[in-house]
Amino acid sequence: MARIAVTDGMSTKAVEMLEKMGHEVTLRHFGKEEIDSGTLSDFDAVVIRSATKLHSRQISASVSDEGGLQFIGRAGVGVDNIDINEATKYNIKVCNTPGASTRSVVEFTIGHLIASTRNIVTADRSLRSGIWAKKELRGSEIGGKSLGLIGFGRIARGVANAAIAFGMQVHAYDPYVVDSPEGITIHKEVDDLFRNCTHISIHCNLTEETRNLVNSHRISLMPRIGTDGIECGKHIVSCARGGIVDESAASKALASGDLQSLALDVFENEPLDDSPLLSHESFHGSPHIAASTMEAQSRIGVEMAELLIEFFETGSTRTSLN
Ligand code: MLT
Repeated sequence: MARIAVTDGMSTKAVEMLEKMGHEVTLRHFGKEEIDSGTLSDFDAVVIRSATKLHSRQISASVSDEGGLQFIGRAGVGVDNIDINEATKYNIKVCNTPGASTRSVVEFTIGHLIASTRNIVTADRSLRSGIWAKKELRGSEIGGKSLGLIGFGRIARGVANAAIAFGMQVHAYDPYVVDSPEGITIHKEVDDLFRNCTHISIHCNLTEETRNLVNSHRISLMPRIGTDGIECGKHIVSCARGGIVDESAASKALASGDLQSLALDVFENEPLDDSPLLSHESFHGSPHIAASTMEAQSRIGVEMAELLIEFFETGSTRTSLN
């Protein structure tokens, strides 16, 4: 029997799967101070989402002479909140569930893209304040425009398929991917992607290489006119990780009118507090909920429960990041 801490929630079905196998599940959010002081060393495994950070200090505090963590499960995709090297040093297995939320994030990205280009959020804001802005809120179609994907993994490919169905021309940049699917223009240089696309969507991890990758210079490279000849302006969407879009540069570009719209589900600092972005009508955001659907959370929970069960039965897992 293993003691498993689940700090950022897990589906009931997944909890039941673990309990049925005799594991003890504690569903509770542990704050940074508690983790720093070694609370997680009372558990054999922890399952986290993005709200819990396990950097080197928290990992070393989670092991003790008597035992402590053997498994860190990331219920989701991004592992920038886990120091995997430190976990490896202590022989702690790190696993995520990379494919379980793909469809949800794809749908949400397209939702943000269309909400931006058709002024859906602005329309709702003005409607609520008693303004019937029928003449003012003229948007642009995404069909006939070019979408640039930064990162070309599972989610980006799903977004590409949907965008193609809407009549967009799709471009992608990913230095770690070698294949080039038919109908998609792959760029070797990220600047070339910006030069060719009126719309940009981010799908890469946050690393030192990608931090502030979307900056003033690159925004300035984007064309304002679609491949259909319509002046649609420049649009950027990110449902990947905060810190890849330079928020201060994007805010200045919105203020100057260089950027027509910005939609973010992820922020450099979460929860988002007082940000200059919030003063722009052409910005809209959401609180990191791209993967928050019943379907994705159920798939993520079940997949994570299976990994935990396998790990505590056999000492290893089908998939792990270290
Ligand atoms: C993920 O990486 O899976 C998503 O950003 C969702 C999350 O962290 O909660």
